[in-house]
Amino acid sequence: MTDNKNKKILVTGAKGMVGHALVKHLQEENYKNILAVGRTDLDLTDSAAVDSYFDKYRPDFVYMIAAKVGGIAANMSDPVGFLVDNLKIELNLYQACHKYKTAKNLFLGSSCIYPKECPQPMKENYLLTGTLEPTNEGYALSKITGLRLAEYYYQQYGMLTVCPMPCNIYGTGDHFDLQKSHVLSALVKRFIDAVDEQTNSVTLWGTGIARREFIHVDDVAQALLFFMETHSSPEFVNLGTGKDITIRELAELIASEADYQGKIVWDESKPNGMLKKCLDITKLEALGFTPQVSLKKGVQKTIAEYRQIKQQLSRDNK
Ligand SMILES: NC(=O)c1ccc[n+]([C@@H]2O[C@H](COP(=O)([O-])OP(=O)(O)OC[C@H]3O[C@@H](n4cnc5c(N)ncnc54)[C@H](OP(=O)(O)O)[C@@H]3O)[C@@H](O)[C@H]2O)c1
Repeated sequence: MTDNKNKKILVTGAKGMVGHALVKHLQEENYKNILAVGRTDLDLTDSAAVDSYFDKYRPDFVYMIAAKVGGIAANMSDPVGFLVDNLKIELNLYQACHKYKTAKNLFLGSSCIYPKECPQPMKENYLLTGTLEPTNEGYALSKITGLRLAEYYYQQYGMLTVCPMPCNIYGTGDHFDLQKSHVLSALVKRFIDAVDEQTNSVTLWGTGIARREFIHVDDVAQALLFFMETHSSPEFVNLGTGKDITIRELAELIASEADYQGKIVWDESKPNGMLKKCLDITKLEALGFTPQVSLKKGVQKTIAEYRQIKQQLSRDNK
């Protein structure tokens, strides 16, 4: 839609992994008027600041990407923060979008919204059919509220917010520090560090039988623009590859791509988490979107990027 290329596009969370990839993709697609906003530009939990930002800049399209995100430990130690900060961000953005009459918005969900014992693959209509995983319930409740607000604002005021709902995202800009990183980037770091330090054994949690689904952030960026430009319903849609892999297979793939020759030891005293987590992507396929980055290619890219980060760090420390 060439018409939108000159419109004002607000991307929140623009300094994070997904937001950064989206801004890059929008620039590549020749969108000229991008407001790429990070936390230091605008604290989205501050309602007065959000209101005056919208009053000043009047965005036409709003990507609600920013969120307080974190691993299990962070979620368990701060459930109030994960629920309250994310609700504030969502409420401030939805209210401002409504007040300043944006043309269209996008809210990004997360697959933790599904019940703990969800049948697999997870279909959109399984939402709210069971108890949530307790370790990140606060975060999940905030995301569920964000998805429901999209529907309520549409029904009550006709304001359209589209809602892709992604599986695990990895790729450029992901965190590699072990406190914040997600599983795939954490494994890349473990195996590359083991190669560099000539360690011949890497110990991983669980038995490796849990199955997980991963999508590369470049595919997510493409999907977000696809949804903004083509989708016209506030009902959320799963965004994934529809293919899952065991953590053991993933570890072996990364070890092989990293040229790690040592042993992989599974610490079976540690939990596996849910045994399977895979999205049903029938709706996504019907809309005509297909992710392009294979897991192997994505892993190769992530390994190259982590190597670059390490080289840069060692140059900086000299
Ligand atoms: N990564 C995944 O596997 C995954 C899976 C499903 C859904 N998602 C969703 O994707 C979105 C982006 O996640 P990500 O992986 O890109 O995480 P990320 O790299 O941590 O990016 C999130 C961004 O939001 C910003 N933010 C947080 N609180 C803010 C506030 N009060 N005001 C302004 N900005 C704030 C963060 O800024 P600071 O860095 O300053 O905190 C950060 O730049 C989130 O909505 C997340 O729920 C991610």
